[in-house]
Amino acid sequence: MSDHPLAGKSVLVTAGPTQEAMDPVRFISNHSSGKMGYAIARAAFVLGAKVHLLSGPVALAQPPYVSFESFTSALELEKLMLKEAPFFDYIIMAAAVGDYRAASIATEKIKKQGDTLTITFQKNPDILAELGKNKQPHQVICGFAMETENLLENAKEKLLKKNADMIIANSLKTAGAGFQGDTNIITMITKEAIEPIEKKSKEELGYLILRKCMKLEEHTC
Ligand code: PMT
Repeated sequence: MSDHPLAGKSVLVTAGPTQEAMDPVRFISNHSSGKMGYAIARAAFVLGAKVHLLSGPVALAQPPYVSFESFTSALELEKLMLKEAPFFDYIIMAAAVGDYRAASIATEKIKKQGDTLTITFQKNPDILAELGKNKQPHQVICGFAMETENLLENAKEKLLKKNADMIIANSLKTAGAGFQGDTNIITMITKEAIEPIEKKSKEELGYLILRKCMKLEEHTC
């Protein structure tokens, strides 16, 4: 096989968390470090693709030879994705996108009040589902599912609901998997198969995920 099997292909990768502001000093977010998405972006470049990485706020160095834009909130990511996605062959959404944002962002710091504080949150758009709805014939769309229970059932449901070609399931409850670490334990779920992969570095998994995307593309051509 060629050393650059993705030559001529374009790959759009999202990585890291979203931050949803509540006031000028506070936000809600999650523990994503960006390592999984950055590893996929690097692997895609090494395999010969033109790569665009959209990153949430993380402490990682921007990979060389990869074009880059940053986002903070889910709405910002949505805007970037709707602009970029039509031009890419593979879209891989490893970002941990907040499902909700504050219904309104206070313009001044929210002052300490009584013993409890109630903030209303409003649903964010499901970006992966929007991309799935508008999927073009040349595209392979791969999402992730991060779960703490019923991993495979929930991931399979996401595959169908979001019209993705593949969902990479990972569980927060499994040691060596998920947020922050250098390894992950994933299951690759497609409409045809459920493929568990033993613990590997996020770097190695980047290559495996892309090679699986290539196989999926062969089947749809
Ligand atoms: O960054 P690391 O520390 O290396 O950790 C990696 C990871 C755990 C963040 C990564 O492997 C992972 O699982 N990413 C997806 C986390 C997530 O948001 O899962 P979800 O099950 O909530 O979302 C399912 C899919 O829909 C994801 O592809 C997500 O990007 C997408 N989504 C979710 C919500 C939303 N409003 N819009 C979306 O597009």
